[in-house]
This record gives sequence, C-alpha cells and structure tokens, in this order.
Amino acid sequence: MKQYKHYINGEWVDSCKKNKKISVLNPANEEVIGEITAGIDEDINRAVEAAKKAYLSRVLVDMNPMERAKLMRRIADEIRKISKEGGALLCAENGKLLSASENEFHEAANYFDYYSGLTDKIEGQTIPVNSQVMDYTVYEPYGVSGHIVPWNFPISMIARSLACSFAAGNSTVIKPAELTPLATSSFFAQAVHNAGVPKGLINIVTGYGNEAGEALINHQDVAQITFTGSVKTGKVILHAAAERAVPAVVELGGKSAAVVLPDADINKVVNATKIGIFSQAGQICSAMSRMIVHKSIKDEVLDQLYKLAGSLKIGAGNEEGVDLTPIISEDQLQKVENYARSGLQSGANAVFGGKRVDRKGYFFEPTIYSDVKSDMTIAQEEIFGPFLSVLEYDDYDEAVEIANDTKYGLAAGVFTNDIDMATKTASDLNGGQVYVNSWFTGSIATPFGGYKQSGYSREKGQQAIKSYLQLKNVGIQL
Ligand code: NAI
Ligand code: MG
Repeated sequence: MKQYKHYINGEWVDSCKKNKKISVLNPANEEVIGEITAGIDEDINRAVEAAKKAYLSRVLVDMNPMERAKLMRRIADEIRKISKEGGALLCAENGKLLSASENEFHEAANYFDYYSGLTDKIEGQTIPVNSQVMDYTVYEPYGVSGHIVPWNFPISMIARSLACSFAAGNSTVIKPAELTPLATSSFFAQAVHNAGVPKGLINIVTGYGNEAGEALINHQDVAQITFTGSVKTGKVILHAAAERAVPAVVELGGKSAAVVLPDADINKVVNATKIGIFSQAGQICSAMSRMIVHKSIKDEVLDQLYKLAGSLKIGAGNEEGVDLTPIISEDQLQKVENYARSGLQSGANAVFGGKRVDRKGYFFEPTIYSDVKSDMTIAQEEIFGPFLSVLEYDDYDEAVEIANDTKYGLAAGVFTNDIDMATKTASDLNGGQVYVNSWFTGSIATPFGGYKQSGYSREKGQQAIKSYLQLKNVGIQL
C-alpha cells in the first residue's frame, strides 16, 4: 500500500509518533488507494514551528516583490507540469471527472499566476494629519496562516487561499481533508518543492479534523485561519479563532436557489441545472440545490428536467462520456439517502431518482423532488448530493421570500429574459453571488463568499489578499 507523508520544512516526513493510519478510498470502486498517517499535535507543532521560523527569517517578507512574483509563477509552472499525473490521483481519491481533476491543477496554477500580479501592488496610503506629521500606512502579513481544506476541491481550494497568503508574505500550514489528502501531500507538495520555495514557508500536515485540524486552529502561533466546509465545523473554527482573537476566513456552504420567472428560457434552465446540481454529484458549496419555479411553467420545466436526469450517464470519473460521478464516501451517501427519505415522508414527490445506484461505489441517482415546501428539511439543509428540490410560487414576492428563507446565503440565481427583472431579482436575493440565466459564472478574478451563515469573508479577486494582511499606521513627527 502506498504511504503518503506530511510535507514539513521542505521534507516529506512521517509522524512524530507511530500514529493511526488513515486509508483513502476510491469512491467509484471502494478500493483503498493509499494510506496517510493521522497527524497529531506533535506534527502540527513541528509544522507551525517550521513556518514560524521561516516567517521570522524574513526570507519571504524581505523578498523583492518582483522576485516573489517570479517564485509564484514558478510554482504555477510546476503545478501545470504535474496536472496529468496529479489529476489521475485526484480523480481516484475524489471521484470527480478526470477532466475536472486535471483542471483543478490548471486552476491552482492560475491562482498563483493571478496573485503573483499583486505582490508589487500591496500599496498603503499617506494620510494628511498636520504639517508637522508625516503619516502613512503599510500592509503587513500576519505570520503563520493555517488553512483547513475540504474534500470537494482539494487542489484548487488550497491554491485559492495559499496563493493569497503567500503573495501577502505569510508562511502557511495546510491540513487537507482526510478523505482527499493524497494528491495534495504528493504532487502538489512536489510542485511547491520543485519551484524552489524556501523550506518552511509551505507545510502540509495530513490527518483528521478533530485531531490535526483542531491542533492547527488552536495553536498559539497560528495568527490567521482559513476554512471552507460545513457551518457546524465553521463555528468550531470561529470559536477557536475568537479564543485567541485571531481573524478567520470562513466559507460555509449553501442552499442556493434558482428563481425561474414565467418568461425564462427553459433551455437555459436545463443547461444550468446540469452543471449547477449534477456536476461533481452536487458536492459544490454553491450548487443549485433549490429551484423556485413559477406555477405557469412548472410542468414544462419538470418535464425537461426529467429528460435531463434520464440522459445522464452515471460512472467513475475516468470513464468515457460520464456525467454523474460518485459521492465522496459511504457516510455522505447515507446522508443523502436520509434526505431522500425525509423528503418523501414530508410530502414531496420524486420526479426522478432518490436512491443509491445498485453497483459498487458510492453512486446516487440524479434526483429531482417536486412539491417541496420551504419548511421541509430538504429545502433547508445542505444535502451535498445530486439532489434538486423544486418549489413552486405564484407571485414574485413569494418567490423572493422562499429563496431567502434559509440560514444560508452563498449563491442565488434568476432565469428571465427581462433585464429589469434580472437586476431587480439580483438585488432582492440574499447571496454573495447571483447568477443570471446560468450557474457558476465566476472566475478567479471575481469575489466569492457568503451572506448570512454561509460566511462573511470574500475569496478570489483582488480584495481577497487583504484577508492575509494587517494594516499598520506610522506617524512621524517632523
Ligand atoms: P467538515 O466541514 O467537517 O470538514 C471540512 C474540513 O474541516 C476537513 O479538512 C476536516 O478535516 C476539517 N475539520 C473537521 N472538523 C474539524 C475541527 N473540529 N477542527 C478543525 N478542522 C476540522 O465537512 P465534512 O464532515 O467533510 O462534511 C460534512 C458536510 O459539510 C457535508 O455533507 C456538506 O454538507 C458540508 N461541506 C460543505 C463544503 C462546502 O464547500 N460548502 C465542503 C465540505 C463539506
Ligand atoms: Mg465533519
């Protein structure tokens, strides 16, 4: 069995103690593909010490910004070089399409390129106080930044926070998700290593959330935290951050609704549904997990969605022509099954799917439930599966009320050909991003984050780097 190690201080190392091993499975066939060591306090201590030492050496802080940018572009190049082999391993551990797995490496590389462009644009201000004082501001890094990453985008999500953190001059310790640590601790670490990143600036410790994760967020030398995952764990992270009064970037999932107005182009609704809730088996924080359709077109929309669901080919990410890949784990699959059951019990109807697929691997049918009411669990909770809850409305205000009636506010969408209604609805919906006539339209350059319990930070785009910088004001008496 292939063993994967931590990447600490520029070396691949075993855990300090003979810890438990964690087997990593391929969700498409349930076969074990590798083993990691469950990192514990001592491993996190070692990584944070290395990061702190690297930070205090000022190797990155004092690096000429142009040189820092060049180093980041080297990291990007090295990540691109390993996208094929890295993508194959990511596909095996995560289950997503091979093309999407390889694409994660390309996207990760793009993050490093994008934020490399900011290293020499972290500008302060001069502030008029009075003629006897010269006052200016400078942005400085925090020191050691700790990143807790989920399993749905193991590589691109690391790059999303790491590229910002690095461009800002911090040292970073990363704890990948225990379900998908392999491509990160091997190929991604290798790319960082090959690019010549000075030792200790980027460290990766694998392990469980409640062991390695908790040790990281509670470490006294971790000065800033970034987390993406569930609201439940997000609150644990925020409590830990509050305990030490350090800032935390949190992105906590969603229950994002598409509002379909009576004049919508139904083709666009169908295309958006295909990517919005069925790509990556719906395991995307900003997935289109609810649809709120005007009653005048509901039957036609459901008809088209039924055809869509029936046309999807289910299979492993590396099979030809596959549309619907597996759920990440047996636990997650059971969670989705329970939601399917709860939906029926509370009076919703299965238009399509609702069951696990009778084959090896954690496959769940493309699922569409109609007659969903806003107070049902399947309309309120993040299911994280290929599961669309369809609700019906009569008048516009009701649609907006339903769309905004969850604790989440990550994304939202509207389908209409009327530009006035598009902008009005975009304004009325509570969400950090609103898609019109499509889904997932953003890029690295567009800010991403939540309203309400989906979190308050913004990642991507230029302003994201500010989460990794603190502001200092200097006043000089002339
Ligand atoms: P999770 O939020 O518990 O895990 C995400 C990351 O946090 C993993 O790296 C995990 O090891 C770490 N973690 C867990 N507990 C921790 C703790 N006490 N301290 C520090 N780190 C900790 O998510 P999980 O358990 O994998 O999935 C549960 C549900 O969360 C899913 O069904 C889904 O609804 C939601 N989720 C949402 C994601 C999103 O992108 N919005 C991503 C992953 C999960
Ligand atoms: Mg958990």
